[in-house]
Amino acid sequence: MTAPAPRLRTRFTELFGVEHPVIQGGMQWVGRAGLVAAVAESGALGFLTALTQPTPEDLVKEILRTRDLTDQPFGVNLTILPTINPPPYAEYRQAIIESGVRIVETAGSMPAEHLEVFRPAGVKVIHKCTSVRHALKAEALGVDAVSIDGFECAGHPGEDDIPGLVLIPRATRALSIPVVASGGFADARGLVAALALGADGVNMGTRFLCTEEAPVHRRIKEQIVAATEHDTELIFRPLRNTARVARNAVSQEVVRRLDAGAEFAEVRELVAGVRGRSVYENGDPEAGIWSVGMCQGLIDDIPTVDALVSRIVAEAVDLIAGRLASAIS
Ligand SMILES: Cc1cc2nc3c(=O)[nH]c(=O)nc-3n(C[C@H](O)[C@H](O)[C@H](O)COP(=O)(O)O)c2cc1C
Repeated sequence: MTAPAPRLRTRFTELFGVEHPVIQGGMQWVGRAGLVAAVAESGALGFLTALTQPTPEDLVKEILRTRDLTDQPFGVNLTILPTINPPPYAEYRQAIIESGVRIVETAGSMPAEHLEVFRPAGVKVIHKCTSVRHALKAEALGVDAVSIDGFECAGHPGEDDIPGLVLIPRATRALSIPVVASGGFADARGLVAALALGADGVNMGTRFLCTEEAPVHRRIKEQIVAATEHDTELIFRPLRNTARVARNAVSQEVVRRLDAGAEFAEVRELVAGVRGRSVYENGDPEAGIWSVGMCQGLIDDIPTVDALVSRIVAEAVDLIAGRLASAIS
């Protein structure tokens, strides 16, 4: 009989009842049942992305589809955006609670009003933010854990531009609740580094985007493999709503126009969600804006989720027990 593979146990794995200290964070158009179930089956924690579903009823169906594929824990990401026409957040929230999901990743604005409903319903909340100041506020509001995105991340890195190497230890020194390091993590070395910095786990977006099960055209995954850490663009800087996305003709044009003083209305058509979605569906990386992080420079394959998670954990254990332990004299 072979011994079970060693695991990495942290406050995060204990609190959320998962095998590995690894999260697949919310990803618009990508966080769907097939990917999330594969992540759950691998022993990591996956999140469906609520707003990828056009209505709260569709979210309920997606939760049921995920349950058909796995009996392991998974969660739902609720991204709270400052928009003129907000989606019906309270209805999405109710759909999550009534479907029996017990783990939520909130992101964007402070989740105070949602916490008031999630907590009494027994839902554990991980709030994803980009600064120590917001993490402390979320902790004071009573979230169970925070996930902190450093400057390297795909999507919204905030406006402070503090990379993970400083942001994560600043956060873990200041907070009492478990901290998940996010942004720039794609392999075992990143996971070990995050643990060394005081984090209880890592959250990965770009790395899970480039797996077999991600519902994204293969050409986009091949583009991530081919790309380097230089091939991202920060759009919306002048609007103080910065987003890290793939560098292409569209993102470069958005930067050019806004730097020249254009208003949002003058880039609206370029950044339309429907164009971004078509990138994933049709496989043309130049069709619109799509999120990707600097860690694409560390990605050189398209593994299954299970192969990826097992490899990261096994290599992390080897790294800690091997090279790091043997450095002690
Ligand atoms: C394609 C894609 C879409 C994303 N969409 C969302 C989203 O809708 N809500 C959210 O909270 N984060 C979103 N993110 C951010 C991830 O959840 C995660 O915080 C980020 O990718 C971490 O950085 P990394 O890509 O370097 O791992 C997205 C990331 C990617 C790659």
